[in-house]
Amino acid sequence: MPVESAAQARSRTLKITVIGLGHVGIMAAAGFASVGHDVLGVDIEPSRILSLQRGELFLYEPGLQPMVQAGVRKGNLRFAHLDDAAAVLGDVAIIAAGTPPVSGGNADLRQIRSALDWIKSKQPRGLVLVMKSTVPPGTGRRIIKDDLRGADVSYVAVPEFIREGSAVADWSFPERVVVGADPNDLRSLDLVKQAHAGIAAPFIVTDVTSAEMIKYASNAFLATRISFINEIAALCDSLGASVDDVGEALAMDSRTGDRIFAGVGYGGSCFPKDVRALNHIALTSGVGVELLRSVINVNNRQRLLPLYALRRRFNGAVSRLRVAVLGLAFKPNTDDVREAPSLDLIDALVNEGAEVWAYDPQASGAARERLPESVRLAADPVEAAKQAQAAVLLTEWDEIVTADWESIAEGMRPPKFVFDGRNALNKSRMLGLGFEYLGVGRGGGAEWSIERESGASLNVEKYKEED
Ligand SMILES: NC(=O)c1ccc[n+]([C@@H]2O[C@H](COP(=O)([O-])OP(=O)(O)OC[C@H]3O[C@@H](n4cnc5c(N)ncnc54)[C@H](O)[C@@H]3O)[C@@H](O)[C@H]2O)c1
Repeated sequence: MPVESAAQARSRTLKITVIGLGHVGIMAAAGFASVGHDVLGVDIEPSRILSLQRGELFLYEPGLQPMVQAGVRKGNLRFAHLDDAAAVLGDVAIIAAGTPPVSGGNADLRQIRSALDWIKSKQPRGLVLVMKSTVPPGTGRRIIKDDLRGADVSYVAVPEFIREGSAVADWSFPERVVVGADPNDLRSLDLVKQAHAGIAAPFIVTDVTSAEMIKYASNAFLATRISFINEIAALCDSLGASVDDVGEALAMDSRTGDRIFAGVGYGGSCFPKDVRALNHIALTSGVGVELLRSVINVNNRQRLLPLYALRRRFNGAVSRLRVAVLGLAFKPNTDDVREAPSLDLIDALVNEGAEVWAYDPQASGAARERLPESVRLAADPVEAAKQAQAAVLLTEWDEIVTADWESIAEGMRPPKFVFDGRNALNKSRMLGLGFEYLGVGRGGGAEWSIERESGASLNVEKYKEED
């Protein structure tokens, strides 16, 4: 597999059209404009276009808004609705539309198909089409064979590896750029390299299906690490070991990768759907894959831990509780609540009659549309926890970890039970402040790890065990 450096590519200003302006598309549009290309971003959502034309970002991503504004000011970053006359194809078109999950785990490719239809309606001539969306291995081959048959378009897969919350740094200094292309299509390879000129990263060239698989393998491996440490945490709880010490020691061994933390598991718009999709692909292609369904099932179980912990601590009487949920986003530094553990936990608590107050520094707006009406949103952690008997930390935002926990302790009602779903708080300090504290694999004792197996559930279809 050839590895080269895109930084050395011949630099030329390209006309780039980015189709789909979610997290990935807007980052790509602003990023390619920042290295000098002439970029047009198009989307089907009029409100997104209107706010971007004003240089306003409709999502929270540190450092991205100034990048968008710089491009808009300079004039080499423009936005148009898909139906506008201004929405035209450049030398390169990048598809960054969504590939959400459908029931059964497969990826829904309708947004991709409609983007392809739009491209074809523009009667492209010599277009290089870059697929940045995550599509199941084999999709590109089918698109080339069926959707693009007869069209003057070359297809290249360039999967995206940015992480929400650190997208700007990940985009500017990627660890690698993976390019899946026909090895004989030197013009497309050259154009893709030119697009990335100035970005110092190894450029890995492979075939289209392998590039698609690299993206799924990468997410599945990262999810596996998380489920692995969560299984170890369950054993730690049962056997009286500390998962913090285990995780720290593991991270010192270069063979095991960097530090992983036990907690309520992974969420977000990528890991859950991509692992389910890969498992689905394995099942439907008759390959006996064992590991992925376990990764999924462990993650589903982890989400139940706060509910088990509350039921256990309050003898099942969750209905009389006031609970503070600290953190709604699926991880810190984003306002994305897609597949966030918070939404499922809050639904379950409200169903069981608890009174829920929630706090998140950025995601309250996005979460509001998805939360039951009775849930109250607080301005800070102290307000959220006031008069609550229990608090559950689900997102390790600095604003939550370094909150004024003394005031939180003063405002809460006994037993001041804190479930730390991210092992982000200092246990001895919390005990010193008068909290009852429970983390994940931090010495919870065997009794609630047994509860874990006792069949309680969030009653959500997607958490049924994978076969
Ligand atoms: N979010 C991430 O951090 C991330 C990271 C790596 C890869 N990915 C992958 O990248 C893809 C996009 O992810 P996202 O989170 O940005 O998705 P998203 O759902 O946030 O955004 C998709 C955008 O595409 C627009 N769209 C839908 N159909 C369209 C069409 N026919 N023409 C033009 N625009 C259209 C939508 O209106 C929306 O603005 C997915 O496949 C995802 O798995 C996401």
